[in-house]
Amino acid sequence: MRKTFPESVYNPITLTGAAIALVSFGLILFIMLLEALSPSQKPYMGVIVFVILPVFLILGLILIAFGMLRRSRRLRAGKDIVFKFPQIDFNDKKNRTAFSVFFVGTILLLFFSAFGSYKAYEYTDSDEFCGELCHKIMDPEFTAYQVSPHAKVDCVECHIGPGAGWFVRYKLSGAYQVYATLFNKYPRPIPTPISNLRPAKETCEQCHWPQFFYSRKEVNNTYYLSDETNSRFSLNMLLKIGGGSEETGITSGIHYWHMDIVNKITYIASDSSRQTIPWVRTESKDGNVTVYKSRNFHFKNDTVPNSFVRTMDCIDCHNRPTHIYHNPYDAVNKMMSIGNIDTALSNIKSVSVDALENSYTTKNAGLDSIKIIIKYYYKTKYPDIFAGNSKAIEKSISIIQNIYDKNYFPEMKVNWKGYPDNIGHMYFPGCFRCHDGNHYSTNGKVIRKDCNTCHLIISERDIKGKAESSLNGIQFEHPIDLGSPIDEVTCTDCHQE
Ligand code: HEC
Ligand code: HEC
Ligand code: HEC
Ligand code: HEC
Ligand code: HEC
Ligand code: HEC
Repeated sequence: MRKTFPESVYNPITLTGAAIALVSFGLILFIMLLEALSPSQKPYMGVIVFVILPVFLILGLILIAFGMLRRSRRLRAGKDIVFKFPQIDFNDKKNRTAFSVFFVGTILLLFFSAFGSYKAYEYTDSDEFCGELCHKIMDPEFTAYQVSPHAKVDCVECHIGPGAGWFVRYKLSGAYQVYATLFNKYPRPIPTPISNLRPAKETCEQCHWPQFFYSRKEVNNTYYLSDETNSRFSLNMLLKIGGGSEETGITSGIHYWHMDIVNKITYIASDSSRQTIPWVRTESKDGNVTVYKSRNFHFKNDTVPNSFVRTMDCIDCHNRPTHIYHNPYDAVNKMMSIGNIDTALSNIKSVSVDALENSYTTKNAGLDSIKIIIKYYYKTKYPDIFAGNSKAIEKSISIIQNIYDKNYFPEMKVNWKGYPDNIGHMYFPGCFRCHDGNHYSTNGKVIRKDCNTCHLIISERDIKGKAESSLNGIQFEHPIDLGSPIDEVTCTDCHQE
């Protein structure tokens, strides 16, 4: 017999290994071909192509090597006889039958494994797979995303980004996620922040140029209090977003100060959700270093617990750019201000917020209860309104149900409270994690808290209808008297749940 390969190849182990390796390699090529020809992307097929099949491929290769080693050692020891393929005598009817069965069987097996992998491939693309297996878990993130400014940006643009390294990293963690899903081992709610999120430089900054200069952004807010007349007040402010670069000459504002343009800011958080920041360090381009420490925080031997130093990037402020779970106050104010919830309904602000904030066991129970609670409230407390304004009540109820539907996910234990939004300072510490007026450097510099640092309130109309305005900024008139100057209070003392 003429042999193409070295003698050591011809042994059952190596040949079996070769068969396994060839079949899995063939399947990988087959699936990659399908993926190339298919118009849509199927993320979890990647798990099969990049994780499961390669395991078999590698197993096959190991078997080949092991078989060869074992046989060459035996050959050297003179133990092994020359390998011979079995001789099959086709004149014997039994051999002919056995061969036909084997031959037809092999063809069928190959056909079905190709067919099977094609079916598996189709399945990962089906609504059933995504809907039942993944969407139930990511329903909160997905729902919020669909009504956000990034609804047209693919998940992978922020969660994976360009380049092969992170792609493979995510495919591997994707395999774990499939396992966690199938065996019901995923956490509820899914924790935030994501500890190993790809740095924003490599994701957000692919689309948003950090040195880009944004001028001031105007924000108009209308608020309603939780009293009988739903007292209304509104304000108008300019946010000093800024940005820019030394070359263009226009440099100022929030982005300019934090985004590695003049300063590199690093910090240490003492909790895993990064809500308490006792230590902050800035390093200017010419190497000046300033360390700020919170006077409210008790440092043991001058060290900070959990001393993982993080470099500030977009996510430290924009941590909810797309999975935005709106708090009930803002969401109801918004709907009232555009007339979708009727402001003539007595107490509608507080009733709506209470109905949304009750805890319900399932989404459907929540939606049904909201209707019952609000109807019952007007029926018993304001029978006249109930009789005369039933249309307005019905419409308001459907709007409130919609707010619930988009922002509360009881099955996954997800709502706004578990997901701090770091932009602002009213419902979560946000900017005041550092800008609380209590972070001092050794030479007495403070991270500023004064109310005009980040925005100018240019007009405000209070609950009595009195308006005040100035382009130089006016002081914020809190709707109810707080008893102390506004720049000395911490909003979250009262407004955080
Ligand atoms: C605009 C960028 C962006 C897009 C697009 C995006 N995400 Fe996110 N995602 C984020 C950021 C930022 C976080 C929070 C990271 C942090 O705080 O560490 C996050 C967090 C998450 C989390 C963790 C739980 C949480 O809510 O914090 C999940 C799960 C998630 N995203 C899934 C998805 C899915 C599924 C899609 C596509 C439907 C998607 N994301 C699209 C930026 C994005
Ligand atoms: C694939 C491109 C892309 C990526 C990646 C991306 N964005 Fe955006 N982003 C957009 C687009 C498009 C808009 C909408 C633009 C507009 O309204 O002018 C937007 C809008 C925004 C806004 C304004 C939202 C508003 O309320 O108007 C913020 C803030 C933002 N992005 C932050 C981020 C952050 C933070 C990340 C990284 C986690 C990110 N973006 C990643 C494309 C992207
Ligand atoms: C120190 C906090 C902070 C950091 C860090 C930060 N931003 Fe912002 N950014 C803000 C604030 C505050 C606003 C205005 C409020 C808003 O739009 O929600 C804003 C607004 C924006 C907008 C919307 C501008 C507009 O005209 O509507 C974009 C886009 C944006 N940021 C992108 C980024 C990107 C990309 C990064 C990272 C390179 C980043 N930001 C880092 C605080 C920050
Ligand atoms: C991790 C701590 C940290 C957080 C969080 C933070 N900042 Fe800052 N910020 C700083 C430090 C430190 C400086 C001072 C930089 C300097 O003096 O070199 C600063 C400076 C600024 C300045 C310039 C102030 C000046 O002197 O003109 C503005 C504006 C600003 N921050 C806005 C914001 C806004 C808005 C937020 C929230 C969206 C925010 N910051 C969140 C640390 C932080
Ligand atoms: C470090 C920057 C910074 C400082 C200092 C600061 N603010 Fe703000 N403030 C913000 C940002 C950012 C927002 C969110 C704007 C938005 O809606 O996107 C905000 C929002 C607000 C709002 C609207 C709240 C809401 O969610 O509707 C009020 C009112 C307000 N600030 C008042 C004040 C007062 C009063 C002070 C002084 C004690 C102050 N701010 C100091 C950054 C700052
Ligand atoms: C001592 C407690 C307390 C502090 C501190 C406080 N507030 Fe309030 N705030 C209230 C109360 C009470 C209301 C009335 C709520 C209602 O009627 O729904 C209110 C209402 C508001 C509203 C209208 C809310 C809505 O639901 O429409 C805004 C905006 C507001 N406060 C901003 C701030 C800001 C910004 C700060 C920090 C600079 C702050 N508050 C600090 C107690 C406080």
